[in-house]
Amino acid sequence: MAELSKRQFLKSLAGVTALSVGQWAGLDETLAQSAHIAPATLATDDDFWAKIRAAYPVTSEFIQLENGYYSLAAQPVLDSYLKHIQQINSVSSYYMRTRQFDDKRESQTQLANLLGCSTDELIITRNTTESLDTVIAGLTWKAGDEVIMAQQDYGAMLDMFKLQARRHGIVNRMISIPAHPKSDDEVVRVYENAITPKTRLLMVCHMVNITGHILPIRKITEMAHRHGVEVMVDGAHAFAQLNFKISDLGGCDYYASSLHKWLGTPLGAGILYVRKDKIKGLWPLFADSNFADDDIRKLNHTGTHPVATDLAIQDAVRFHEGIGIERKEARLRYLQRYWTDTIRHHPGIVLNTPEDPARTCAIANVGLEKIAPADLAKTLFSRYKIFTVAIDSPAANVRGIRVTPHIYTTTAELDTFINALKALAA
Ligand SMILES: Cc1ncc(COP(=O)(O)O)c(C=O)c1O
Repeated sequence: MAELSKRQFLKSLAGVTALSVGQWAGLDETLAQSAHIAPATLATDDDFWAKIRAAYPVTSEFIQLENGYYSLAAQPVLDSYLKHIQQINSVSSYYMRTRQFDDKRESQTQLANLLGCSTDELIITRNTTESLDTVIAGLTWKAGDEVIMAQQDYGAMLDMFKLQARRHGIVNRMISIPAHPKSDDEVVRVYENAITPKTRLLMVCHMVNITGHILPIRKITEMAHRHGVEVMVDGAHAFAQLNFKISDLGGCDYYASSLHKWLGTPLGAGILYVRKDKIKGLWPLFADSNFADDDIRKLNHTGTHPVATDLAIQDAVRFHEGIGIERKEARLRYLQRYWTDTIRHHPGIVLNTPEDPARTCAIANVGLEKIAPADLAKTLFSRYKIFTVAIDSPAANVRGIRVTPHIYTTTAELDTFINALKALAA
């Protein structure tokens, strides 16, 4: 490539990520006008959030209340992502050989800033599954090593531990998280009671995906560390939904999340944080002898993969920061409380999510005494065009539907849902 066109190309790539959220979505004015308003106050301002919704390509076919699986990328992020795909495609291997790694490093740095860790402690993965499995399969297990996990943890992770039990003879100890704890200590005690001299690792969700229950990670980590037990946090739903930094979590050893859930990246992006002193204890899944044992990049030999997604992370971070995590968290909690407070004591309706606002944010789970979860989800969709997901797990003691609004959800949509639920409960 001639030097001039190479410069032009690099400039055009950089240009895609240089816009502010306001320029993208015409939100400058809205954001500036509301800069002085406290997040909790703004959370109730439907007019403000209608303008944010306008930046998302929300379907008009049905009411989307299953944003926990993955959520919409905002239109400006999507536009930018498509441009990345086109531009990278036009120069293909040239991009891969010149820009790929620097761009990924920049995305990594921006994510590390969001999480409040060093760039040398975080890698970009495809998702939480890959991140957590990198840890679970990367530790050196001995027969008899014990791991603590919960019935309410994510199935794929429980399966991965079952695989280690078959392969290495580790012992998996299951606890059950109290659904409506009176205090943090009640939760911490349940985990602590399962610790034995052989316990090596404790896996815990930052937010339980089926109920939305936020767990006291800092207290659990501090307790586990007092016993010499490492802590691996499944933060699939917490990163970019809750306002926290890694330093708020008591020095947990490993933390993983998916960016397509709450950061609004295109599908297939995640993070793995490994505390600096824990990196050397992990074996990579994919060999890479270019890096020292304590260099986190040894865990990130992905091979050739969709690099436009790595680049779009920067667009998603900019959009997310333009709105602001405090505002986002406050609005999400407001939306959840908007519907749960209305039906909490309604006859025939059972909430499977704690009442304490500090223990929940966007996600909640509700069941009907007389209708099985699968039938409820089906009827809500066929009769009311409301999309949710059924959770029917006797082991986890959760029978209901998971309901997950996002910042583009309107209170009018929630009113439709509330009325539907009341009608079905009757
Ligand atoms: C708690 C929890 N952990 C892990 C995952 C896996 O996420 P992903 O499929 O993005 O890897 C999920 C997905 O919903 C989840 O809810």
